[in-house]
Amino acid sequence: MDDSRETYGPNAFVTGFPVRHSRSPLIHGHWLKTLDLSGSYRAHEVAPEAFPAFIASLRDGSSGFIGGNVTIPHKELAFNLADSPDELSEELGASNTLWMEDGTLLATNTDGRGFTANLDERHPGWDRHDKVVIFGAGGASRAVIQAVRDRGFAEIHVANRTVERARELADRFGPKVHAHPTAALGEVMKGAGLFINTTSLGMDGDAAPAIDFSPLASDAVVTDIVYVPLKTPILSQAEEQGFAVVDGLGMLLHQAVPGFEKWFGKRPVVDEALRALIIADMEKH
Ligand code: ATR
Repeated sequence: MDDSRETYGPNAFVTGFPVRHSRSPLIHGHWLKTLDLSGSYRAHEVAPEAFPAFIASLRDGSSGFIGGNVTIPHKELAFNLADSPDELSEELGASNTLWMEDGTLLATNTDGRGFTANLDERHPGWDRHDKVVIFGAGGASRAVIQAVRDRGFAEIHVANRTVERARELADRFGPKVHAHPTAALGEVMKGAGLFINTTSLGMDGDAAPAIDFSPLASDAVVTDIVYVPLKTPILSQAEEQGFAVVDGLGMLLHQAVPGFEKWFGKRPVVDEALRALIIADMEKH
């Protein structure tokens, strides 16, 4: 490793609490190396009570960072403390990417762009139908709802165990978004071209309920934003039932692109080498 990378060039961070499990340093480190750029990107753990002071040190330059990524549980506070959050994060009430520009702390949220870029890369034509079904109404589903709405889907159906949470999101994201209880999944799947799991069901090897995907359009795509395991139980079932599937790892990789470009000045590429690097790391842990 070239030590000058650490000392000269821009320094960026990923902060969360805890943050040690973040794979972002691996992603950005790969790009710094392959693009031969100076600069650094490292995990910087900040406890919730210390977060406002960290943001102040970013703004006044004393942190030594020019920007970074923000993960759980700081995304809402990052949005609230930024000087000028963009419209995407404004609607979500959460920011995951920060950068300083002319003394101002700017903020955006790149999760939705990561979601669409992953599908564009791995299954072009995924957006050819008007109707999409989103399973889950937690924090992670917000950026997905925003992304498919902005992509132009006319009918967005959100089904959730707690239907009130789905209703809140329908109110937030406008008239194209409809809320349903989980029991309505089979009905709302009829003719849909895309099914997105945003629940934690099946994460880390846990069991997931059986889902009959047959009401979907025959050329529908099923995707999951969970990427551990890479092939979640929901994706396995969809594949066994003959549907095209796209795993969630690419969303993680693509959401990192806009931040890297802001901090280090070059647009990086998500390629098979990067994917293989992260998969190898997942197999180690
Ligand atoms: P995240 O920010 O990762 O989305 P979250 O806000 O805790 O996390 O949301 C988790 C999602 O998984 C929610 O849609 C949740 O449903 P509820 O809103 O009803 O809690 C869903 N979920 C988690 N465990 C579930 C289970 N056993 N059955 C059905 N849905 C579940």
